[in-house]
Amino acid sequence: MKITLAETLKQKPDFTKLGFGKYFTDHMLYMEYDDGKWGEPEIKPFSAIPVDPASVVLHYGQEIFEGMKAYKNAEGKITMFRPRDNILRMNRSAKRLCMAELPVDEVLEAIFELVRIEKDWIPTDPGTSLYIRPTMIANENFLGVHPSKKYIFFVILSPVGSYYANGLQPTKIYVEDVFNRAALGGTGECKCGGNYASSLMAAEVAKKKGYDQVLWMDAKEKKYVGEVGSMNMFFVLDGKVVTPWLDGTILPGITRDSAIKVLKKAGYVVEERAVSIDELEDDYKNGKLDEAFGTGTAAVISPVGTIGYKNDIMTINNGEMGKITAWLYNTLTGIQYGRIEDDFGWVVRLN
Ligand code: COI
Repeated sequence: MKITLAETLKQKPDFTKLGFGKYFTDHMLYMEYDDGKWGEPEIKPFSAIPVDPASVVLHYGQEIFEGMKAYKNAEGKITMFRPRDNILRMNRSAKRLCMAELPVDEVLEAIFELVRIEKDWIPTDPGTSLYIRPTMIANENFLGVHPSKKYIFFVILSPVGSYYANGLQPTKIYVEDVFNRAALGGTGECKCGGNYASSLMAAEVAKKKGYDQVLWMDAKEKKYVGEVGSMNMFFVLDGKVVTPWLDGTILPGITRDSAIKVLKKAGYVVEERAVSIDELEDDYKNGKLDEAFGTGTAAVISPVGTIGYKNDIMTINNGEMGKITAWLYNTLTGIQYGRIEDDFGWVVRLN
């Protein structure tokens, strides 16, 4: 691996006012694919990347990304959470979009080294972390529609606070009944930029109605709820934790998987299955929709206080964070920051 350090370092932002994804560290990881193979990974100063106006990514959106985090505790111990799972998922996305798969171990080592170099950028206040954004773009210059033969893989880092502006305040989500995010056989289970581009209009419409995000429904029947886009969804229905099953249209979230395992280990009943909007509305009317929350690397565990659907408004747990949501937030972040023993082998220590 080649390492070129920046000659001058950036001024760091106020770590108590980070928000999400606004600041970027001094260095990045960069690697090119050409002639059927990946070149040497390089850590270098954060800088623009060489993309020609004819580059295929700009025209046909052959792009995938990941989201992972590094944490630093009060003693300066740096950890990451299930990083291999992110790179393995990226390779599944790469396969679906006919892109080059990454050499997993080499990429992980390079990311670990990048995080070590940027250790002073990892905030330590509660709820803060260093967000890691691995990204791959197609970079052959041509206008024919076929898979690119050249790729750029890069990783940028951003110190972050909470994803939602109001932190752990419960969010308001609107169940989208007009637009679709993904259909069976599409790219819904991949982390590709196109999924997010196509979600923007629905989110804008929902924002005008006073909501933070939309909860997507299945494209065929508009009957079953899926994911929110920035997070997978969970509902506590009459004491049981229920989450939409991975039908191929939603992202197989690593935080989602971790939440299921942590909840099951603690004795909660967790069901992965189809969840219809009718079931949610019925349970709400019968006082059985106890809690709702989303999971994601960026979102962590985010309580949902209001779910809107057509003209109905469901206010969950008086619009406050529920008990199971709070327990899960504390347990999962406890494991991630090293406050709670990791019995699952998920935490990787970097120092
Ligand atoms: C993540 O949770 O890491 C994501 O990629 C969601 C993102 C759209 C902010």
